Amino acid sequence: MTLGIFGLARGEMQTKSVADVYGDKCAVCHGADGAGKTAKGRKLKVKDVRETSAKMTAAQMAEVVTKGKAPDMDAFGKELGPEMTTEIVAYYRSLAAKK
Ligand code: HEC
Repeated sequence: MTLGIFGLARGEMQTKSVADVYGDKCAVCHGADGAGKTAKGRKLKVKDVRETSAKMTAAQMAEVVTKGKAPDMDAFGKELGPEMTTEIVAYYRSLAAKK
């Protein structure tokens, strides 16, 4: 039944939330709070999302996540796919509103 398949797909999505994926793949450089103040983030001069989210649109950020930013940030497009990329950018930008 179609409904059953949908239910399953949604259940799987929920086991790995956007926050989990961000924590796994992004926080090492960008920090759990988006400030980029981790050891790696400082070394690579990662900017605070509070600064970049004021200058960049979500679409521009999604492009960085998809294609990466040479030389330090890898491309995540293949791994995350377009939907998760959109969601993770929204999550990342939402961190700018938090202290
Ligand atoms: C190995 C360290 C590293 C990892 C892991 C990493 N980034 Fe980055 N990221 C950088 C660096 C370095 C820049 C370039 C400097 C900057 O603009 O902050 C950057 C830039 C960005 C930018 C553009 C501007 C900004 O800083 O907001 C976005 C958006 C971004 N990263 C999102 C992500 C997301 C989402 C993930 C996880 C899927 C991720 N990054 C994983 C290092 C990393």
